[in-house]
Amino acid sequence: MTHTIRRLTRADAGPAAQLHAAGFADPWSAASIETLIDTDNVLALGIEGEGGLLAFVLFQSAAGESELLTIATSPARRGEGLAGQLIEAAIPVLAGAGNTRLLLDVAEDNTPARRLYVRLGFTEDGRRKGYYSAGRPSPVDALLMSRAIGG
Ligand SMILES: CC(C)(COP(=O)(O)OP(=O)(O)OC[C@H]1O[C@@H](n2cnc3c(N)ncnc32)[C@H](O)[C@@H]1OP(=O)(O)O)[C@@H](O)C(=O)NCCC(=O)NCCS
Repeated sequence: MTHTIRRLTRADAGPAAQLHAAGFADPWSAASIETLIDTDNVLALGIEGEGGLLAFVLFQSAAGESELLTIATSPARRGEGLAGQLIEAAIPVLAGAGNTRLLLDVAEDNTPARRLYVRLGFTEDGRRKGYYSAGRPSPVDALLMSRAIGG
């Protein structure tokens, strides 16, 4: 099946919020995702296929660094490489806009996300103790990860 990677528009905020709610215990509202899609220094990309929006990612850039704010894939479509394709599509766009580094944080217990980021060349820089607590019986550390892009 063919997939299209494209920039999100405000009309994607609702479907993106549904994907977010399926992936996180503390979901973001469609209104807050719409605001981010409209923000100048935010890159919002999605993958569309049969059935609509399958995955999306948001990056926010400042001072030559770009932070991955959030990423989610439809539960039924995980493990097909969609999130990896989205990040790989974002890298030349972000590098072309002058960014030299990608940053993100990930919960230590989020094995699929950690595998994805390691596969894409991110390495661990540090951790924030007990940073994630929503939806968990006890707080979990955030791992801070980054990788160089461009240059
Ligand atoms: C993290 C997430 C975006 C990955 O999306 P995806 O489209 O499945 O990503 P990919 O297919 O490119 O890669 C997923 C990796 O997780 C692995 N994986 C999938 N399910 C897994 C599981 N249950 N346990 C362990 N690894 C798993 C895949 O094998 C792949 O790793 P590999 O390349 O080493 O084989 C998706 O799992 C998701 O939406 N999770 C909920 C939201 C979230 O946690 N976002 C990240 C916050 S930092």
